[in-house]
Amino acid sequence: MSMNRREFLKKLSVAGLAIPALLGPSACVAPVVGTNGDTGLSHGCLTGEVSPNGALVWVRADPGSRLLLRYGRNLSVRPDQVTAEYLVDPSSDDSVIIPLDGLEPGSRYHYRVEVVGKTPGPAASFVTAPMPEDQRKVTFCFSGDTRETYKPFTVMDAISAQRPDFFLHLGDTIYADLNGAAHRLEEFWAKYRRNRDDYATQRCFAETSVYALWDDHEVANDYMPGHPLAPTGRKAFFDYWPVRRPASEPERIFRSVRWGASVELFLLDTRQYRNPNRSSMLGRTQKEWLFETLAKSSATFKFVGTPVPMAGGGGDRWDGYPKERAELLRFIAQKKVRGVSFMSADLHCAAITKIPGSGGLIDITAGPLGAPLNRITNSAHHRYEFFLAENFNFAKITVDPKADPAEAQVEFIDQDNRVFYRRKIIAG
Ligand SMILES: [Fe+2]
Repeated sequence: MSMNRREFLKKLSVAGLAIPALLGPSACVAPVVGTNGDTGLSHGCLTGEVSPNGALVWVRADPGSRLLLRYGRNLSVRPDQVTAEYLVDPSSDDSVIIPLDGLEPGSRYHYRVEVVGKTPGPAASFVTAPMPEDQRKVTFCFSGDTRETYKPFTVMDAISAQRPDFFLHLGDTIYADLNGAAHRLEEFWAKYRRNRDDYATQRCFAETSVYALWDDHEVANDYMPGHPLAPTGRKAFFDYWPVRRPASEPERIFRSVRWGASVELFLLDTRQYRNPNRSSMLGRTQKEWLFETLAKSSATFKFVGTPVPMAGGGGDRWDGYPKERAELLRFIAQKKVRGVSFMSADLHCAAITKIPGSGGLIDITAGPLGAPLNRITNSAHHRYEFFLAENFNFAKITVDPKADPAEAQVEFIDQDNRVFYRRKIIAG
């Protein structure tokens, strides 16, 4: 270990992370040679919250495991680049989140997790975000809605095949209220374990980092703030998805992510701050944060991730909060915020919606990754530029900052890797 205890704890508190058990130097135990069953790891690894210089790696292992992570840039895992040792946390279902920092921007990193005394786990990798001035091309995929009875999630292999810089899950990462409703924390954890057991998901997460948002089914269908299971559902979500949170706001899920010169993501929490009496979907703090960060963003394209669609019909979606939606669209128009598009899931179909009253902005709705298809929605509705509820799918966005005029390509892709709709967005 290259860090002393004080430096290590300081780094963790700066990152706003819970401090895991810090262990003294371990007795050196020769690794057992054998199959992956000898690694002590379960459910693969997941890299989340990638920034230009850092990432959070989620791992789950046998109870009581001590583990560390060896990593390296570009072609190999370097045995001498190693984290401190961590102890899996029984209060987080024997998972632990390992922060990596001091990384090089815009680079692929490889890593292995090693449970002390066991065979090192399989190699995994991810790409760090480029710096805001970096003009390189950016590709990412997004979708939502993973219901356990629809496993295997073979569409995840199609996402891997696209080699995106990262993947965004826009919510309904589990269906806590269906197929055996979860009430206790252990039951919520079991839902996440069953979805993370999926091999296509594990293959995808082994080479693509993830940002995750939640929607209603992480707690209960169409749940509202004050729901008795909301704190339990949120705890389980944080136990299975790494989310960078300010130390002063441990329940916060909304955040922004910058990815090079061309892309900034604004990831919204459209669940835990709702107040229908005030026609507010976002709550005051999040709304003010969104307005401020959108207005000051220098990214060519600003993608706003909203788990529920901007105009998908129904009171649970933005159609139930027309006043705040109008306020947001008015703000974008009046402040002349350019290059804004919305991304959503929840509708269980692929769609491009022309948002009414927005002056031509669109909402790109993708999914489901694995859930019932929504064939009921009126596909002939005039709001839809495109609508298809025939396959499990995701959207792929490619932005080339060097194109003139600046443009983003949107592609809908199905589980067989077929592109079934394509269009461009001009930043304006
Ligand atoms: Fe869903």
